[in-house]
Amino acid sequence: MAVRNVNFYKGLGRLRQFVIYFLSLDPLIHFMQHENKVIDEGKQGEALMVASGAPNGKKLFLESYGCQMNFADSEIVASILSKEGFSTTTNFLEADVIFVNTCAIRENAESRVRQRLQDYKKVKKGNPNAIIGVLGCMAERLKSQFLEEEKLIDIVVGPDAYRDLPNLIEQAEGGQKAINVILSKEETYADITPVRLDRNGVSGFISIMRGCDNMCSFCVVPFTRGRERSRDPESIVREAKEAFDKGYREVTLLGQNVDSYLYAGGGLKKEILTEEQKASATNFAQLMEKVALIHPDLRVRFSTSHPKDMTDDVLHIMAKYENICKYVHLPVQSGNSEVLEKMNRGYTREWYLDRIAAIRRIMPEAGISTDVITGFCGETDEQHAETISLMKEVGYDFAYMFTYSERPKTLAERKYKDDVPEEVKKKRLQEIMDLQSVSSAMRTKQGVGKIHRVLIESESKKSKAQWSGRNTQNVTVVFDKGNAKKGEYVNVLAETCTLSTLIGRIVD
Ligand code: SAH
Ligand code: SF4
Ligand code: F3S
Repeated sequence: MAVRNVNFYKGLGRLRQFVIYFLSLDPLIHFMQHENKVIDEGKQGEALMVASGAPNGKKLFLESYGCQMNFADSEIVASILSKEGFSTTTNFLEADVIFVNTCAIRENAESRVRQRLQDYKKVKKGNPNAIIGVLGCMAERLKSQFLEEEKLIDIVVGPDAYRDLPNLIEQAEGGQKAINVILSKEETYADITPVRLDRNGVSGFISIMRGCDNMCSFCVVPFTRGRERSRDPESIVREAKEAFDKGYREVTLLGQNVDSYLYAGGGLKKEILTEEQKASATNFAQLMEKVALIHPDLRVRFSTSHPKDMTDDVLHIMAKYENICKYVHLPVQSGNSEVLEKMNRGYTREWYLDRIAAIRRIMPEAGISTDVITGFCGETDEQHAETISLMKEVGYDFAYMFTYSERPKTLAERKYKDDVPEEVKKKRLQEIMDLQSVSSAMRTKQGVGKIHRVLIESESKKSKAQWSGRNTQNVTVVFDKGNAKKGEYVNVLAETCTLSTLIGRIVD
């Protein structure tokens, strides 16, 4: 199965590119890392693997766009289809089935998919029986409209309907258009072991929850991913253990708002929990502790924290375990309380800064990154200036920055006017990007002269003689290989740096 991932964003704080080849049990991995400050949806790579079920003689090509959760979903899809006997191809022109796992977060993300569909038209010319399916958030948002607008599409599948893929493929093979965009209140794919398509064999993603109940007014995710539900902690711990046993040394726990994680037997959190159930439920701090206890050599990261829900408990657990990375991605979106209120974020500037103070108090060494949107409906110069002053005050290690992109059906689209001119949005974006470059460079420089514990993840993209890995704060560290191997931890003395990378030598 060929999986190409076009994945921007998140948590790990780096945009990555990679090409992976899974060849039976002996994965040969090529890894290219690519850093980028402002996103967007860059191409992430291709993967080959053999079918785990009886081969069905058909070739599949799967490409994904969007966040890490979408990428983790592609691993679920890969698992379901490899059991069906699909083999893979990196050349979509020879594929029998082409799937594209889509993102709807900004208009850009959607236009990229539309452009890509033009390339797939060539496939149908060579092989009129080829099946083209769209998966994920854009499929969920557009539903049958997608089939009407893009005649070449045969299958439309929402993020909660992947178990239905074999049926949908069969239906499409029978010449019918096939669609399943039913959102679920229970589905977490807890029992499906994902086929790890990820990158380097050292760090992997584990989805711990699905959906989002927050309804931030700018955001399409609650409409594309449905209601928030948490996954059984036992299945999460099992998956993390399995990854560790296969040689993985880092897992990133994924959710749109991990601080809201709460498991008490499945289903929707807010509807089913009695006080008694709540008391015996597993929360995020407890879940993270369970995962951290698997092995001291298994690093734990997570994404994304939400300022309104992030508790000191979580921070104390992070501080308690060496193997929980000291890095928090805490999206602020805006530094002005009125804008935050209009965004329906559920916190004020002061509340946010109090959370930052809590991180600094409990883990003074922690790296902190954020997401910012410029030019949200009605944003004034003064309000934008407050975003700048907040960014200066916090001094982020890293930031993902976007201009506001109005999304259909969101609260903002219905309630507010998208009235900040595009040039103003862009000018404000440039201002915060310039500010962030200085801040990132300064934070990286602070690491020079210090010894960093680094998990070796891949060959450095600049030199075969060097390894690349990250320290606990999520900063990339590059150094001569010596006798060290991928997946090992080494202590590296940082001697110099670029804007975002520390360069040093092993001192073990
Ligand atoms: N659940 C995460 C965010 C997921 S989306 C959280 O709440 O923090 C990732 C980022 O995309 C958001 O943090 C936001 O900065 C950006 N984003 C989301 N919707 C957007 C829109 N309509 N226009 C521009 N940026 C948007
Ligand atoms: Fe979107 Fe807000 Fe949910 Fe994040 S928390 S996914 S921004 S609705
Ligand atoms: Fe992720 Fe994009 Fe969907 S950010 S949740 S793939 S809209």
